[in-house]
This record gives sequence, structure tokens and C-alpha cells, in this order.
Amino acid sequence: MCGIVGYVGGQQAAPLLLEGLTRLEHRGYDSSGVAVLGSSGIKVAKQAGRVRDLADGLPKRFGGKVGIGHTRWATHGPANDANAHPHTDAKGDVAVVHNGIIDNAAALRRQLTDDGVDLVSDTDTEVIAHLVAHSEADSLEGRVRDALAVIDGTYGVAVMHADFPDRIVVARNGSPLIIGVGEREMHVASDLAALVRYTTTIAHLDDGEMATVTASGFTTYKQDLSSTHKQATTIDVDPDAYDAGDHESYMHKEIREQPEAAERVLRGRLDERFGTAHLGGLNMDARETRAIRRVKILGCGSAYYVGQMGAGLVEELARIPADAEAASEFRYRNPIIEPDTLYVAVSQSGETIDTLLAVQEIRRKGGRVIGLVNVVGSAIARECDGGIYLHAGPEVAVASTKALTNMFLGFALLALQLGRVRDLSVADGKRLIAGLTRLPDQIGQVLAREDTLAEIAAGLAEAESLFFVGRVRGFPVAREGAQKFKEISYRHAEAYQTSELKHGPLALISPEVPTVAVVPHDELTDRNVAALHEIAARRGPLVVVTHEDVDLGELEAVRIDVPRNEVELDPILLTLPLQLLAYHAATHLGHDIDKPRNLAKSVTVE
Ligand code: F6R
Repeated sequence: MCGIVGYVGGQQAAPLLLEGLTRLEHRGYDSSGVAVLGSSGIKVAKQAGRVRDLADGLPKRFGGKVGIGHTRWATHGPANDANAHPHTDAKGDVAVVHNGIIDNAAALRRQLTDDGVDLVSDTDTEVIAHLVAHSEADSLEGRVRDALAVIDGTYGVAVMHADFPDRIVVARNGSPLIIGVGEREMHVASDLAALVRYTTTIAHLDDGEMATVTASGFTTYKQDLSSTHKQATTIDVDPDAYDAGDHESYMHKEIREQPEAAERVLRGRLDERFGTAHLGGLNMDARETRAIRRVKILGCGSAYYVGQMGAGLVEELARIPADAEAASEFRYRNPIIEPDTLYVAVSQSGETIDTLLAVQEIRRKGGRVIGLVNVVGSAIARECDGGIYLHAGPEVAVASTKALTNMFLGFALLALQLGRVRDLSVADGKRLIAGLTRLPDQIGQVLAREDTLAEIAAGLAEAESLFFVGRVRGFPVAREGAQKFKEISYRHAEAYQTSELKHGPLALISPEVPTVAVVPHDELTDRNVAALHEIAARRGPLVVVTHEDVDLGELEAVRIDVPRNEVELDPILLTLPLQLLAYHAATHLGHDIDKPRNLAKSVTVE
């Protein structure tokens, strides 16, 4: 949440900062701002609204070859011009951008007010600017250190000072910061997306680390200012992967990329001879794997729902008791950490603070955690004992699609490996490998029905309220379908177990409330269909996501057929039409698909 950019070099900073902010806008889009440091000191432009509004309103004279910028997702105080970053001290000598939350902001604000400081925003960040200005240290590094010494909380922070015009000082504690090395120029950003167009030679700061960035290079150090000698490395990324290309939105691009993304997560990991998966990154030998008595999966939002699908896979294939829990709740109930439980953290960004804190809680109590993570080198990936990278490629749209599909496949690989050191037969292992190998092509077949799904979605978009229902394997699919629908269409979409309808929610069924039902061909098909008749009898409109050979009898319903795979792998194929229904409902309603209201990519605050 929130994006930071910075630049020091030979070019005018403002255009580069604005370009970087555009690439980070998915991180927060309620306000934005830039500050540049030129011969006449620091100039700031900031306002509520989108980055393009900021660019349009930028003063003509806004020169400076050092600068910082920010795109905000409000935590302290509403989204208005005053609360937008950068924040400055009273004299305007210091400018600060910040991601994260300062927990003792209220106390610090009170103290500053008592000292006669006139605070002009409601934010926690503003205190940093005043604290830096009040420090008497003789270097900017020392002043930032003094400010951070009295701050409790999380931050990625970048600071400029008119008295030190050749540099930006950055610091990290819980919120990512990356330094990008160019030709006699340096960049700073909270996310690779803002850097890859300029450089792929980068250094990630660690928590507790600070850096000084000048046009000629950077130095890193701890908060006691002792050097950490960090070197930049060149990474292998395709800058075009960060563009939407010909697609009308990132979400559309990411939905359509799923066949190739699925191939990437499977590549090199299937062992046909032994009917198993190779997951070297788990760092567990067969003996340790056999000793696992329980699997506990932790994630937030869609990652939690796919975690439920993953728990189902582990139970079915490995016959190990498994469940998923919202990472945001986990550590608040003082969880019992067992030595023979395998904990699995699942996260696209690898930054979600609730998931990260859950991992830290487990490791602090001696548990073993593996990560299913998309972003290489992210905080969660680094914190875990091992894991599976998802190789979905950059996911920019706020609503997760291709990463979610690869999470499911990551769980399938994990369940296969766990199963094959236990009681899953080699024949079943081979059956699943054949199913996994078929999946990328079948994903393409579902996506090819996009036009039909768009028509169905336009009908659903008219409803104010919808149900998404499914049973057992189908229930997490329904939960994910409802989540995707509500987050981008802003319609009320509620997921229920089909079996639970008559215990209450059936009271809401009416011609105005459609139900999207997930009905795979499995051992529950007949029961599912019977429940749908109960909805139809109450004149509830039905959209049924199902398999071609499922007989819906006389049921009046709009039917969406997906190809069949192995029954354990079906959930992901059933999920895909729900992505497209959400996408086209939101498009039909004219919403900003990639930047749904009130949300932001990567939830880095609790
Ligand atoms: C929904 C969505 C969110 C994320 C959740 C976890 O489409 O994208 O619910 O799934 O915020 O994010 P990660 O996977 O980055 O930990």
C-alpha cells in the first residue's frame, strides 16, 4: 500500500518521478505528490486524486535533479491535499515520503504541538519531517537516524533536506525499499515496477537498514550508522511484463496470461517416472516430510480462499489433516504451534503484513513455515524456511487472478509431493501429473469463452445482491468468485455452502437475487442440483458453472460448462469463469477495473 519513488542524477527529476508514480498507482490512488530539490530549495506539488491530475497541475517552474514522490492509500486522515505526501517541516527544508504506520504518532504529534510546532496535516508521516528538522546531528544520515530512533511502527521512508542537496536518505522497517543503479544516476522505489524501465541493477534494503543515495552511488548502513556493505545485483526481468500492452486493463491481461503462467509454475517440477513433484525449495527431506501430522495454511483475502482449496488438495492427496485460516486473525488468538505441523504462508506480493506477522509468530515459537509466494525475494519469501515460487510474473491489477491460479497449482504440487512420500499410489501420482499437464490448455479453453461470459456478466451486473454457492471442493471456489465480484463490481456478493442455504439465507432468494452456483461433476452433483431446484422454486435466477456431462434436468438456469480434469484439480477450472464474470460485470458498470475503490495492491498495514 502506497508507493514511493526517488531520483538523484543529471536529469530533471519531476517527469521521472511522475512516470514512476504512474507505475505504482495500483499501490494507492487517493492522492499523490512529488518534491524536487533545486537551486532555490525544495518545491512540493501534491493533491488528492490520481497521478495524472498531479501531472496536469504541476507548476511550470518545477526544476530539480533530486526528488521524491508518493502515491497514497490513506491510513491517518482523509484523502485530501494536506494529507498527501511529501510532508515538510515548517521551514520547508525537509521533505519526507513514507509507507507504513507510525504506532506512536499520536504521542509524537502531541509532543511536537507542545513544543510549538504547527502541524498542518492529520498524518503520522508529518512528524518525521519535523523530527528530522529538529535533530542537531551534522549529517542528514544522523538526522534521519535521530528521527527514526523515537518512532515505533513500520516504515519505508525517503528524506530530502535543502542543506544536503546531493542526496536522499532512505530507511526500511517492514515496508519495502529498493535502490536502482543507473548511469551516473540513482533511483529509489518501493516496488520493482517503478524501476525496471530505468535499470535492472538493484539492491533491496533489509529491515533496520538505511541508505544514502547520491548521483554517483549508494551506501548502506544500520541505524547505528555502521556499514552493511550491500552491493547491487542485476536481476533477470522483462520490463515489458510490467505493461498492460494491448489490453484495456492489467486485470484483463493477467486473466489472459493464465495458460502461460500455469505452464511456468509447473515447468521442471513434475516427475513422471515416480508420479511425484520435485520441489527443491521446500528444504525438507523425505523423513521430515513423512513426519508432518498436520498442515496449516495462512493467507489473506483471495490467498486465504485458495488456501482452502489447497487444504482440500492436501487432505485428498496426502491424507494429512489440513485447514486454512485468515492470517489476519491467526496471531491474535495465541495459536498453538506444533512441531509436527507444516505451516504454509501463501501470498502473491510476499508483503501482506498480516501474513508476514503470522509467519514471524510461528517462527518465534519454533514452527516450520514454507511460503507459496509470487514475488521473488519479498519479505515473506525471505522469512520462510523454504517454499515454492509461483512464477506468475508481475501482477499489477488489485484483483488477483493469475497469481491465484498459480497458488492453486503450487498447492497441487505440494500435495502431490506430500502424498507420494505417504500413501498416494504411483498410478494416482501419474494420473494427477497427466491432469496438471492438461491444465494450461484447458485454462485457455475456458478463457476462449470470454464473449459468452461477458453477456452473462452484463445480466448479473444489474443485480444489487448475489449469492455464490458451492459445496466441499466448490465452496472455496464460490468464496473466491464472490470476492472477485464484490471487489470490482461493488455489488453485494455473498458466498455460502449450498448445503447451508435452507438454514437461513434461502429467505433472501427472490427474482432480484441471482445465485451463481458451482456444480462440478463429483460425488455431490445430485445433492447440488437438488438444492438448485429449491432456489428455482423460489424464482431465484441461476447461473451454474458446471461440467458438460452434468445433467441439470428441467432446471431453468444459464449454464457455463468448463472442461473436466481430474476431480481434485477441477476447482481451478471452475474458478476461471468467475474471474471473467466479475471482470465483465465491472466493465459493464463502467468501473476502474485495476483500481477498485477503497482498495490497493499489497496490504502492508494491519
Ligand atoms: C483479491 C485480492 C486480495 C489479496 C490479499 C492477499 O483479489 O487480491 O484479497 O489476495 O490482499 O494478498 P497477497 O496475496 O499479496 O498476500
